[in-house]
Amino acid sequence: MVDLNPEIKFPTTRYSGSKRRFLSWIWENISDIKFDSALDVFGGTASVSLLFKQKGKRVHYNDILSFNQIIGTALIENSKTTVTECDLEIVFKSQPVSRKKTIQKLYSDTFYLKEENIWLDNFIQKVATVDDKFKRAIILSSLFQACLSKRPFNLFHRANLNLRINNVKRSFGNKTTWEKPFEELIKKFVAEYNQAVFNNGRKNKVVGGYDALYCPNGVDLVYLDPPYFSNSQSTGLNYLDYYNFLEGIANYNKWTELVIDTEMNVPKLKEKKGIQHFTSKEQIINSVEKLIERFQNNIIVMSYLDEGIPDKHTIKNIFKKYGKKVTVKEKQHKYALSKNPKNELLFIAK
Ligand SMILES: C[S@@+](CC[C@H](N)C(=O)[O-])C[C@H]1O[C@@H](n2cnc3c(N)ncnc32)[C@H](O)[C@@H]1O
Repeated sequence: MVDLNPEIKFPTTRYSGSKRRFLSWIWENISDIKFDSALDVFGGTASVSLLFKQKGKRVHYNDILSFNQIIGTALIENSKTTVTECDLEIVFKSQPVSRKKTIQKLYSDTFYLKEENIWLDNFIQKVATVDDKFKRAIILSSLFQACLSKRPFNLFHRANLNLRINNVKRSFGNKTTWEKPFEELIKKFVAEYNQAVFNNGRKNKVVGGYDALYCPNGVDLVYLDPPYFSNSQSTGLNYLDYYNFLEGIANYNKWTELVIDTEMNVPKLKEKKGIQHFTSKEQIINSVEKLIERFQNNIIVMSYLDEGIPDKHTIKNIFKKYGKKVTVKEKQHKYALSKNPKNELLFIAK
């Protein structure tokens, strides 16, 4: 049944740069724009895609990383399938058909405890046998969220299991959540994903894992939320490094082939073509320009943070160069791990 403007709670996440907390602000600023379809080029947790879906738009979701595309499948492409408690129990209680030990071999003493690594290797192989693509996507998306919430700082670029297990006084993190069993967290996230599944009567899809600069179009409005490049850093936020473990889970059967360096304290995954466009100081300004050039015939809505590269004025000028009339909205926000508040920017270019 078509459900227009359903009351849903957007699933919680600990993903860096998620726009979940800015959704009402974004919608306040763009609700008067006339558009029927939207492309979310840097989809991430699919929060903005889900907002567009909720508003009845035809939504195309893209993200270069495979694990994010699975989340897009669960929330955007999926219009009716949910995962019941019984579905989950079957997966929990089944026996894996094969017994690969990829995580136990590559990630011992890295992110999770020994018994958790065994559990993860088995669980991922059991989920692979779930026939329904959408059920599988919901279960895996919930596993990704569980993995994130059991990590100090919710990231995977450092092997800091000791931060979790050392018996010290902490001023950060949530030890209670870190120690919760995967099963318990997965149940919680499955419930969150289930209630965000609805049919808006449109053909919404995950277009794939394109590098943003080559992402296909075919919509009225394009939403851009590129990785942030802070002007106080020498590289931009590298999502493949930050979330390598989730990308490995999404590619479980070829994970070992994706690893190019096991000598590092976190195994390094093969670089993905395109990631560099937003992480390299030499390329970042040119990449933002190429993006805007590519989508110049669309309405463009773009999120970025102030004090980044390029800065607010440079971005405005690029929009103008391509004949766009641009307005910039700003909202102050204090991020959990930073001392000072930052300005969230929203460029609206018509
Ligand atoms: C700021 S996050 C987007 C967050 C998203 N709007 C949300 O609410 O969750 C940036 C996203 O860009 C993706 N990404 C990085 N480089 C990319 C590229 N060259 N092409 C497409 N996606 C890319 C990352 O995987 C990451 O999910």
